[in-house]
Amino acid sequence: MKRILTCIAAALPLAMYADGTDPAAETGSPENIIPEPLIVEMQEGVFTLPEDGTASYYIEGDAAEALEEYLAQTDTGLRPAGKPAEACILIEIRGKALKKAALQGKTDEAYRMEITPDKIKIRAEGEAGAFYALQTLMQMTRGGKAGQLECCRITDSPRFSYRGLHFDVSRHFRSKEFLMKQMDAMALVKLNKMHLHLTDGAGWRIEIDGYPELTRLAAWRPYEKWTDWSGDPVYCLQSAPGAYGGYYTKDDIREIVSYAALRHIEVIPEIEMPGHSEEVLAAYPELSCSGEPYRNSDFCPGKEATFTFLENVLDEVMEMFPSGYVHIGGDEASKSGWKDCPDCRRRMQEEGLEDVDELQSYLIHRIEEFVGSRGKKIIGWDEILQGGLAPNATVMSWRGTEGGIKAMKSGHDVIMTPSEYCYLDYTQDAPFKEPTSIGGYVPLAKTYSYEPVEQGITEEEASHLLGVQGNLWAEYITQDSHAEYMYYPRAFAIAEIGWSKAGEKDYEGFRTRALGLAGQLNAMGYKTFDLRTEYGDRKESQAPVEHLAKGCKVTYNIRYTDQYPASGDGALTDGICGGWTYGDKKWQGFFSDADVTVDLGSVKPIHYVGATFMNAAGAWVHIPQKMEVYVSDDGVDFRPAGTVWQDISEKHGFIFFKQYSLVCNEKARYVRVYARRATKPGACLFIDELVIN
Ligand code: ACM
Ligand code: ZN
Repeated sequence: MKRILTCIAAALPLAMYADGTDPAAETGSPENIIPEPLIVEMQEGVFTLPEDGTASYYIEGDAAEALEEYLAQTDTGLRPAGKPAEACILIEIRGKALKKAALQGKTDEAYRMEITPDKIKIRAEGEAGAFYALQTLMQMTRGGKAGQLECCRITDSPRFSYRGLHFDVSRHFRSKEFLMKQMDAMALVKLNKMHLHLTDGAGWRIEIDGYPELTRLAAWRPYEKWTDWSGDPVYCLQSAPGAYGGYYTKDDIREIVSYAALRHIEVIPEIEMPGHSEEVLAAYPELSCSGEPYRNSDFCPGKEATFTFLENVLDEVMEMFPSGYVHIGGDEASKSGWKDCPDCRRRMQEEGLEDVDELQSYLIHRIEEFVGSRGKKIIGWDEILQGGLAPNATVMSWRGTEGGIKAMKSGHDVIMTPSEYCYLDYTQDAPFKEPTSIGGYVPLAKTYSYEPVEQGITEEEASHLLGVQGNLWAEYITQDSHAEYMYYPRAFAIAEIGWSKAGEKDYEGFRTRALGLAGQLNAMGYKTFDLRTEYGDRKESQAPVEHLAKGCKVTYNIRYTDQYPASGDGALTDGICGGWTYGDKKWQGFFSDADVTVDLGSVKPIHYVGATFMNAAGAWVHIPQKMEVYVSDDGVDFRPAGTVWQDISEKHGFIFFKQYSLVCNEKARYVRVYARRATKPGACLFIDELVIN
């Protein structure tokens, strides 16, 4: 924030009272706002909103109807005034009312607001700007007491046009009331895109007239808990005892999008293809390669029936949502049925497609053309780059930022949502004190630290960066209150990255503002993560560990995976232990057993060999069945020094750490450690350090 003090006397309200309390805490201040406004000029004095319910506003200018309707619907206590002279808030909406010089980016969401001791004046080019000025005002008012606001002049506009939050209503259906409640919180922090993940294996969530089985069968399952259902992933009729699920009717969608429109939120529907489609293929198995339910997870791109289905569904969806976008998913297709499917093989031959990636790209291209023929554009997860990107597709980059950068460089629009910063389903604090999560570790500070325009990106490339989004996948999030707990306060950081200008980050300042705003949300009935009780990262990861093997050479009898190398060949003896997530580049991963030999340089007494393994069951990360230790003087002949067995029960939960420690009495130069991975399918191993003493 560019904070300009126009007058020395204006500093007065910021002075301390004799008792040491801060008078600014009594008055709502623009300095506590999230996202931070572009320019704040502090002025002399305080404005006090009348307490007797007579606070009123008057709107002059264009297109005020929606704003009036919003104010009538919302608990602001503001009432319309008959004429400007009677109003304490004057809102002027006029195209081109603002001088562009001081503003960043597009100005249709920009506003100027002047708070003087006797009036609040808002000027904006369009309704969105006036709406955001009111959101700033609401945060200031709720942040102060007795309607007192510090006088100031605010000039504000967003850095990015896309500032989104994602809602996975497939894994657990959420009511329309829940979505609307979240829209109010989104609006308060100037988030303007709601991405609805409406379809996935766990349930289809939108009424489609042409395909009634989608909501008769594919929207319901016999288990509430994801972990129960994923062991027996079947669907049931709504009428079945214990059926769990739900869907939005067309009327529900109409309500959702009109509630969103009044809050300047665009609702973007996602219809997943070709993967994550088990629920459709259970209801309409003829759209799969095998033609049988419960066999394939991907649509068959070889069959014309697939395209007929997708186009009919998309036609109904596009009619329901006014957004110019449809998200078509595109992530994590297994493509496993395609190679042996005669229809897919014929399609590949006819279209000259080299491999299954190109077959996926064929499907995405066709769908993009279809959506384009209806005057809309597609967004897809970054896997849509595989096999060639469709010409007008926007890429949503989640597997890091490389996909997004590649797309930007080829002139495609991009929305950044890299999982290591923007995945709000990752735990936000120490796993031992948090609800079960899929894994990962994304504390508020991590999300806040994200800068979407990476070094080396040109201005022209960056012009394709539409903005950022926070994603909340809901496999482990059954309850609405749990979902809110995961969104806030991290959604505040997404909002600030999306709106406020780039520059030096001040996490402590942001955290203080986030604490204040979370308090406001709590008072409004939202559940939020409590930053005051944050534990922080794993203590072991915060200082190097000293031991006999530190800096010693490691030979890999089985190599680590290139996806999780940590610091590479020296990682297991670099003295650096990992944090709460295997993704923090301190944990080394093995998609196999692990087998390494450490050379201590000379024969030395050894009385301890230990390694900590991580368990994150939601990500197939498991502690090993056993760790065997061998020692040798010459690196050729090894003798067993001992074996440590996995000895803990399943009830440990999803995310935990287990130290495998061998106390021995050996003398040797070489220590070989072999860890056998768990028997669970796809199990992998993560180790941070081999400690030898
Ligand atoms: C994703 O997280 N599979 C987009
Ligand atoms: Zn097929």
